[in-house]
Amino acid sequence: MALTGRRILLGITGGIAAYKAAELTRLLVKAGAEVRVAMTEAASRFVGAATMQALSGQPVWTDLWDDRVKDAMGHIELSRDRELILIAPASADFMAKLAHGLADDLLSTLCIARRCPLMVAPAMNVEMWQNAATTRNVETLRADGVHVVGPASGGQACGEMGMGRMTEPADILADVQFFFQPKALAGRRVLVTAGPTEEPVDPVRVLTNTSSGKMGYAVARAAREAGAEVTLISGPVALPTPVGVTRVDVRTARDMFEAVKRDAQHADIFISVAAVADYRVKNPAAQKIKKANGHLSLELEENPDILAWVAALPKPPFCVGFAAESENLAQNARAKLAKKKLPMIVGNLAQEALGRDDSAITLYDAQGEHPLGRGSKLELARKLVEQVAGRLPPRK
Ligand code: CTP
Repeated sequence: MALTGRRILLGITGGIAAYKAAELTRLLVKAGAEVRVAMTEAASRFVGAATMQALSGQPVWTDLWDDRVKDAMGHIELSRDRELILIAPASADFMAKLAHGLADDLLSTLCIARRCPLMVAPAMNVEMWQNAATTRNVETLRADGVHVVGPASGGQACGEMGMGRMTEPADILADVQFFFQPKALAGRRVLVTAGPTEEPVDPVRVLTNTSSGKMGYAVARAAREAGAEVTLISGPVALPTPVGVTRVDVRTARDMFEAVKRDAQHADIFISVAAVADYRVKNPAAQKIKKANGHLSLELEENPDILAWVAALPKPPFCVGFAAESENLAQNARAKLAKKKLPMIVGNLAQEALGRDDSAITLYDAQGEHPLGRGSKLELARKLVEQVAGRLPPRK
């Protein structure tokens, strides 16, 4: 996506990754953005203002008391016409200042006086990244609505390995492009189910499956990024809640059904990614079952089909099912589309998706088959959300 005419303030703070800000500037300018650079004093020890000036084609700003700024309020003016402030790299020290609202140099003052969104790409040594204070500061920034890009894991300038490398410039560019994308689901309410369910056998044992919840969480995140108000009803998984998403934790299929019933009427879209257990144990034991006779039978009874129930509501939201199949993908997905009376189902091969970070999916609807290709679950979720948005009936 082109960034033609987008007004970005690129803030560079002190760290070895500052040299990558030169490449980032080149990429942003090449994509069409108008980039104004402000650097901290420390940043100018790692990368030269002359380099940044040449790449951005604009004067570079460092000093709060710069003579070029015409009046005393000039430092605020430098961020007034901006649509985004991007800090890359963002040092541990600078993020601490942002989190606490300090403004003791030009860049931190521009940030606190801004009217536009703020994005930061942290870069630091692994110990600094894992430090409790940094963790707290990043949480504060996220809660304040700051977009945090990365960091990535890998070899570090200090010779250590781990989390803290700045996200590569091309990937930061992709996030900036995504940020400027029109919000396809603004004003829409989206309900997502994710993860496995757990059906008790006795107080310490459960029937469950190997769903990691990653796809459902990616779908919730993508819908939120697209501007929707998102509720995520989640089975037991160990994943962080996507920023801005309301999460409801459930355990059994019946709990999930109750939670979905509460929200389905208000939703515009229901995306059922959860791997709901089809059966539960009819009479779970009140006490731990003891080993006896080398043999145990459990009587199972069917769980409610949550998605079919939502799709059969008098005024159902736009329902999207997921079909994870081990064989005959198209045939099985189409059968579910018809049986559950859905406008759309997403098919994938279970062995290519379960527990992994990437997958390959195909959409099936009345028009036919639409492969979305292979990619990270987040990339696929973003494509799916775009497809769903394009099929929604116009707003009432
Ligand atoms: N689903 C649901 N409630 C259930 C079972 C499934 O809401 N009790 C939803 C899933 O979230 C998914 C879709 O239905 O979106 C397809 O699930 P799947 O288990 O593959 O379908 P089933 O109808 O249970 O078919 P199968 O015989 O293959 O298990």
